[in-house]
Amino acid sequence: MTGEPILEVRDLCVDYGLGDRAVRAITDASLTLHRGEVLGLAGESGSGKSTLAYALTRLLRAPGVITGGEVRFHGRDGSLDLLAADAAALRRVRWNQISVVFQSAMHALDPVARIDAQLTDALRAHRSGLTAEQRTGRAVELLRLVGIDADRLRSYPHELSGGMRQRVMIAMALALDPEIVVMDEPTTALDVVTQREILTELMRLKDELGFAVVFITHDLSLLVELADTIAIMYAGRLVERGPARELFEGPRHPYTVGLLDSFPALHGERVRMEGIPGSPPALTALPTGCSFHPRCPFALERCAVDFPPTATPAGGSAVRLAACWLHEGGRELPAPLARSLGSTL
Ligand SMILES: Nc1ncnc2c1ncn2[C@@H]1O[C@H](COP(=O)(O)OP(=O)(O)O)[C@@H](O)[C@H]1O
Ligand SMILES: [Mg+2]
Repeated sequence: MTGEPILEVRDLCVDYGLGDRAVRAITDASLTLHRGEVLGLAGESGSGKSTLAYALTRLLRAPGVITGGEVRFHGRDGSLDLLAADAAALRRVRWNQISVVFQSAMHALDPVARIDAQLTDALRAHRSGLTAEQRTGRAVELLRLVGIDADRLRSYPHELSGGMRQRVMIAMALALDPEIVVMDEPTTALDVVTQREILTELMRLKDELGFAVVFITHDLSLLVELADTIAIMYAGRLVERGPARELFEGPRHPYTVGLLDSFPALHGERVRMEGIPGSPPALTALPTGCSFHPRCPFALERCAVDFPPTATPAGGSAVRLAACWLHEGGRELPAPLARSLGSTL
């Protein structure tokens, strides 16, 4: 299912503020998205998921500053260093090749413009070759793609339900046939049934149209069925990543274990939700060493001193990574981190 790399993020760092007042929001984030892949990015609120999404699409605004790293996009028209790209190059890439559906995007629709005008405006701005008739035709087609009848074209946003407005935003994101769609909590504001409908449809569209997805959520359980690969974020760092099933069946970072225990299982027996004691640290007061150590039931002495390197834990596939000292030096792992990876993989 996974093809060639389409987006490569290396050691990306983001600060909020400058000089003495700068606080680091993202530290050394590295990840690779492949063609057609769904990469799920999960972590508690405040862990830096949206900041990462804004930074890698170059939509980050002041006081946010990218202070280091590399983001390479390998599009159909060639490769581009997104962090070095000028405004004109970014304009060509945005919407056309990389589009974004942001958190609370459904409030981003213009309340005084009809749906068809908003869709055709986007097409007019980026596809100057289309006639008015072709633009309307494409708008109808896009709405149909996301399950909205053409008779809704003349509606104003307030005449649509939250779910429908979010579908319109997804239609807009797909309007120019992008190669990557970044979705930041696209269904968080919706009820569970609507959320499921939209996600099912999104996955169908992805298979049909072939775009890759970065799907951001605070709800790790959503990613079970959705994602091919999952990356877990804590206090601005990617602390674990791996193939989705592998990560679910055998989490290797204590934070991932806690996150998985925080949500009721979708299938199988109901388990008591353990959650994670304490709360995530403020960026201005990050703990020394591993930021998770004060909440970690398995913390060693060195966890309070040094940040752990990203290691490939034993028993996982080669793409599996966990930033945790427990995986250093072949020590015996605490039981929750030693769950074997079943033969169902
Ligand atoms: N404009 C800003 N100025 C200062 N700090 C910010 C700003 N936006 C976000 N942050 C901080 O960056 C951290 C990550 O935020 P965010 O990326 O929104 O996390 P998430 O999307 O995972 O909830 C938080 O601690 C947040 O307070
Ligand atoms: Mg966010």
